[in-house]
Amino acid sequence: MRIVLGVTGGIAAYKSALLLRLMTEAGHQVDVVPTPAALNFVGRATWEALSGRPVRTDTFEAVESVNHVRLGREAELVVVAPATADSLARTAAGLAPDLLGNVLLTATCPVLMVPAMHTEMWLHPATVANVQTLRSRGMTVLEPDSGRLTGADTGPGRFPEPERIWAEAQRLSSTSGTLAGTRPLAGRTVVVTAGGTREALDPVRYLGNRSSGKQGVAVAEAALAAGASVTFIGGAMSVDPPAGTEVVRVESTQELHEAVLSHASGADALVMAAAVADFRPAEYAEAKIKKAQDGTNPVIHLERTPDVLADAVAARAAGQPLPGVIVGFGAETGDGTTSVLEFGAAKLARKGCEMLVVNQVGRDQVFGQDTTEVTMLFADGREPVAVAGDKTDVGVAIVTELAGLLDQPARLDRMDQ
Ligand code: CTP
Repeated sequence: MRIVLGVTGGIAAYKSALLLRLMTEAGHQVDVVPTPAALNFVGRATWEALSGRPVRTDTFEAVESVNHVRLGREAELVVVAPATADSLARTAAGLAPDLLGNVLLTATCPVLMVPAMHTEMWLHPATVANVQTLRSRGMTVLEPDSGRLTGADTGPGRFPEPERIWAEAQRLSSTSGTLAGTRPLAGRTVVVTAGGTREALDPVRYLGNRSSGKQGVAVAEAALAAGASVTFIGGAMSVDPPAGTEVVRVESTQELHEAVLSHASGADALVMAAAVADFRPAEYAEAKIKKAQDGTNPVIHLERTPDVLADAVAARAAGQPLPGVIVGFGAETGDGTTSVLEFGAAKLARKGCEMLVVNQVGRDQVFGQDTTEVTMLFADGREPVAVAGDKTDVGVAIVTELAGLLDQPARLDRMDQ
């Protein structure tokens, strides 16, 4: 892979030399593009020796090779580490006073920004706004670590360890893969739900499930890489919501129901990856339920929760502007007489959505794992598509099928004309 490693003028530049080592040792070709200020911290000779390639900072060096356009166009991944508050501001404003600024304006590949600065700068409203701008344009801006900064001060703003940056960069590039090149969801709005819902029993207890949120996060990241604007509605999860999305947090099924029906209104697609509670306590105890003095066990009565997916389909049928493509998930085990796919097909028909992602659950629990095996079923009768692998790969496969479904009515419209 061709990587551009941008280095801006912060003390953490010395740690980027280790990041460069991780990239080259993995066999990648890395062009290091420091800003002039970065060379105050680590000199050109270090970058040239470690990358084995010429290092330039200025737009007017090696002009004959049109470096200022070529490097960005040819890059398959750009990592800016460290990214100072000043460099985030310049990038958000689209300025290109040096070679790195030009690379960032011409690159169409995934871009990972790794901020490192003092806490005051990171929390300054200008930086907060710049980070938001960059994320809304599809750049991934890593959250800095919290801890010891250059001096005796501590707080958020610390440069993450090179191993973590490299892991994030690899994840970004594999998610983006083919989708970033073709951007099949450019101009589309996608709403993705993820994680589990929690149903309160009393002020301290709830009924919940083991959903990690990983599959929904992978779908949201793949949709972002494909060029979509993504709203991520997250319940309880063990992973962070994806950077670059509009994040809405919910707890109960009722809150999820309201969030989906309002945010999906006007969107192009809705992906219901959330593990939604099917039942909730019929009564909420305003005070904590105490153990009975006579030793009797409490009885909890349950009632059905609203079916968010089915209600979204019904609201669309009633004329509300809900997405033309709605994707559901189904966890199935199969039994002696009915296979997993037969149960899946029945669920697809029952829910009335366009696509159902079926996974087999049972002894090998899907919850929390990084790999999975799913079959996508379609309401329009097209052949099912099976895919196995990392949840990231499955996210890309789901978004690829989703993009195909979104394109279809447009193609038919064009044929009608
Ligand atoms: N879902 C929902 N609202 C619910 C329950 C589920 O929107 N109250 C959505 C889930 O997000 C998922 C799909 O519906 O996309 C799962 O359907 P469900 O009928 O709950 O399937 P299972 O969880 O597999 O359970 P069962 O087979 O028992 O119906």
